[in-house]
Amino acid sequence: MNLTYKQRISVEDYNALRDAVGWGRLCEDQAAQSLKNSAFVISCYDGEKIAGAARLIWDRGATAYLADVMVMPEYQRQGIGTYMVEENIAFLKSQLREGWRIKIVLIAAKGKEAFYEKFGFCVRPNENAGPGMDLILT
Ligand SMILES: CC(C)(COP(=O)(O)OP(=O)(O)OC[C@H]1O[C@@H](n2cnc3c(N)ncnc32)[C@H](O)[C@@H]1OP(=O)(O)O)[C@@H](O)C(=O)NCCC(=O)NCCS
Repeated sequence: MNLTYKQRISVEDYNALRDAVGWGRLCEDQAAQSLKNSAFVISCYDGEKIAGAARLIWDRGATAYLADVMVMPEYQRQGIGTYMVEENIAFLKSQLREGWRIKIVLIAAKGKEAFYEKFGFCVRPNENAGPGMDLILT
């Protein structure tokens, strides 16, 4: 294995990852918009082959959303996901200014909560917080 990390990803590689983890491909123009407007993107390659990616949506103020953390099945459980999440968090930390606090939210796939708890994310609902909610428009 010859793993390298980049701060970009092509629409083709992004959709290949989506396919491989079972989320389905996005229309090319929609995927391109999503990637272009992300505050931070990280990808992992094994030589020329895409192995993983993750990205961050951030309003440049108080709220960020960690999205699309994906590792190709054959590359899972080798630390790639951890490294990419850490890099997203490090990017946001580097943006903190005096007196700021930034909340990072995410939607964990079922059964993946433990992976995110390692970084300090809290599962909702809990004693103090209600559940996350979403609405999909088509
Ligand atoms: C979830 C995912 C991103 C993890 O990436 P990964 O590269 O396989 O994870 P890592 O190798 O960095 O694992 C780091 C740690 O998390 C643990 N972990 C990995 N996958 C896990 C899972 N599904 N459930 C619980 N813990 C998990 C590992 O055991 C490891 O723990 P350790 O450090 O104590 O050994 C990857 O499995 C994946 O892409 N899954 C399919 C897509 C998906 O569900 N993404 C998350 C959407 S919210």
